[in-house]
Amino acid sequence: MLPAHNSIPRLRSIGSLFLCVLLLIPGIGSDETFADEPAQPVKVLVTYHSLSGNTERMAEAVAEGAKSFPGAEVLLKRVGQVTADDLFSADAVVVGSPVYWSNMSGEVKTFFDNWQFKFSVFPEFKMKNKVGAAFATGGQISSGKEVTMLTILAAMLGNQMIVVSGGGAFGASATTEGDSPGIDNKELAEATALGLRVAQVAARFKAGSAK
Ligand SMILES: Cc1cc2nc3c(=O)[nH]c(=O)nc-3n(C[C@H](O)[C@H](O)[C@H](O)COP(=O)(O)O)c2cc1C
Repeated sequence: MLPAHNSIPRLRSIGSLFLCVLLLIPGIGSDETFADEPAQPVKVLVTYHSLSGNTERMAEAVAEGAKSFPGAEVLLKRVGQVTADDLFSADAVVVGSPVYWSNMSGEVKTFFDNWQFKFSVFPEFKMKNKVGAAFATGGQISSGKEVTMLTILAAMLGNQMIVVSGGGAFGASATTEGDSPGIDNKELAEATALGLRVAQVAARFKAGSAK
């Protein structure tokens, strides 16, 4: 048996080896390990309604975030221009709306209604198991952004999609009127974080379901 003072360095090196092995297992360790996983070819559709440009700016940042994931293919489109192929070929769909009367805008609601009227998603649940997420811009601090994101997520849940948050608790959002009109850098960073997370989760899910 080794004297106690000799066994301590040996225990330390066994401990370091164990830690290294743990950090090499995908999903264990830092967020960066997650982001640096091998590329999965993943398709992300980012779609939005915007009249005065705020939600469009957020949509561009969500798309940038998704594009930063290796191998991601990102399509950025207004809700009225999304085709059946855009929708069904996507692994993930991120939908953004301005807040209109504390809820999603009529255009965004019509987009979801058209999933049935134009694209006949039900009863087969054609959107099932795609990843979904939401973002919103509203004029006031507390006047419906969270409700807007939640109603977008509710429409996705009704379609048996897998909803994720990111940026903020329910998605990414920005307050566009008042003291600092428009979108600030912190809000843009929320939007890019959401885009990246959506691409990461979609890639993981796709890799897992291919097994
Ligand atoms: C018809 C209408 C209703 C609105 N209702 C709300 C509201 O309930 N709460 C809020 O915070 N902002 C409200 N707004 C402000 C917009 O949500 C805000 O200006 C948004 O950033 C506009 O997005 P866009 O630039 O992408 O068009 C409303 C705007 C319009 C035109």
